[in-house]
Amino acid sequence: MEIRIFKSEVEASRFVCKRLIETLDESRSVNLGLATGGTYVSTYERLVDAYQRGEVTFNHVRTFNLDEYLDLSPDHPQTYRNFMQRHLFAHVDIPAQNIHFPPTDEHADYSAYDSLIEAKGGIDLQLLGIGANGHIAFNEPGTPFDSRTHRIKLDETTRRANQRFFKRFEDVPHYAVTMGVATILDARSILLSAFGEEKAEAVRAMIKDTPDPQTPATALQKHPDVTIVLDEAAAQKVRA
Ligand code: PGA
Repeated sequence: MEIRIFKSEVEASRFVCKRLIETLDESRSVNLGLATGGTYVSTYERLVDAYQRGEVTFNHVRTFNLDEYLDLSPDHPQTYRNFMQRHLFAHVDIPAQNIHFPPTDEHADYSAYDSLIEAKGGIDLQLLGIGANGHIAFNEPGTPFDSRTHRIKLDETTRRANQRFFKRFEDVPHYAVTMGVATILDARSILLSAFGEEKAEAVRAMIKDTPDPQTPATALQKHPDVTIVLDEAAAQKVRA
């Protein structure tokens, strides 16, 4: 794991944006794994600015988002598809047919998402956040390391953390569909960002504890190309 610690979220997001632009420049066709949540809002904002300045194009990019809530109507502003539209897709030249989310139909074959990713050549760079409970995507504590895309019941801690995006706690969905831990580990390169002191303990465990499904992020220790991007608050227990 390469660990990069920045003074602030602003500087960290600048680094992540630069890394994304380099990846998009490198190759004619790029498969990006994308994350939602508060962590990536400023990175996507920078990316949109770079696009508007003509520094990057998305016309050769395919995207695969990590996860999606179940039980929200498609026009709900907090679906992850709508989050991505608002923060990135609506502002750049990505072809609509290149945007992918895990299936959300009630009787969906969730593993079809893994097959689709594989058929398109696999993910080149996967962005990740981390939950204060050590989850990656919506792989909550206890999710096996060999899991593929699946439906999951969200932890109460996750629902509480995401309450800030909804009017009331009761409005936060109970279920989601998420890439599995093994799906994530298949990516050629992984970049995980974490900001703020509420992430410090999960970040310490991810880096220092023996890999254990009770802290899903510890699975990343098994991957050969992982960059962890932290601000000082999230890094405080790593430095100690
Ligand atoms: P956040 O969520 O970016 O909103 O903190 C990250 C996560 O729960 O994985």
